[in-house]
Amino acid sequence: MSKKENPIAVFDSGVGGISVLRQLVRIMPNENYIYYGDSLHAPYGTKTLEEVQRLTCEKAAELFQQGAKGLVVACNTATSAAVRMLREKYPEIPIVGIEPAVKPAATFMEHPRVLVLATPMTIRNEKLKHLMERYQDQAELIPVSCPGLMDFVERGDLHSKELRKYLTELFYEFQDRQIDGVVLGCTHYPFVETEIREILGDHVRIFDGGEGTAREMRRRLAEADLLNPAEEKGEVLYENSEHSKEKLQLCKALLENQL
Ligand code: DGL
Repeated sequence: MSKKENPIAVFDSGVGGISVLRQLVRIMPNENYIYYGDSLHAPYGTKTLEEVQRLTCEKAAELFQQGAKGLVVACNTATSAAVRMLREKYPEIPIVGIEPAVKPAATFMEHPRVLVLATPMTIRNEKLKHLMERYQDQAELIPVSCPGLMDFVERGDLHSKELRKYLTELFYEFQDRQIDGVVLGCTHYPFVETEIREILGDHVRIFDGGEGTAREMRRRLAEADLLNPAEEKGEVLYENSEHSKEKLQLCKALLENQL
């Protein structure tokens, strides 16, 4: 098998990275993919920086050994913790991480009020703080830490009463303020977008970094002359550290938008 036909690895702490995988498959349907979710160790967002660095780097090494021609770190938390290390270790391999889509959210209208939703670790990380500082004159950017929100998606629970209650409480303090935009700064959150809209209203613009990340991977592969020339549809191989049939079924259902 030539290198161009080798798979693109897509990594997340669980099933959330499927929101990035679906963008990759949409714009590069002829590529082969290995989707690896580390659900056994999830959530990453409440772990220490060192733990997330270790888990991400160990898995990346295995994925490259399996022949991955590039890596998408489809996890904002793992990107903020480890993408720099990975790029230093593998300078010749295209490695793309996902970051909260702060820039488009801060600039889509005149001084919007925007909630930036992310895991506790991403919210604490200096990288996000610096990114938000850059736009502080253009928008009111409010960081909102969401411990526990990813667990609903890990359970395949996208519409329950409990989820609605969680989100209602999360947004309670903003009920009297007009919210113009929401940044989904964790790859699990696009799967609960409908419920977020139900509470904040349909006027709210939602931003997620999945599409930009997919486009950046395509650009990097083209630059390295690694795009797959095949004309037929590629394959998606799912792996998960939990090794359960249910998790793999959930991954497929999320990719095919069946929940
Ligand atoms: N999906 C991950 C992200 O984008 C994090 C979820 C977690 O493991 O806490 O940040």
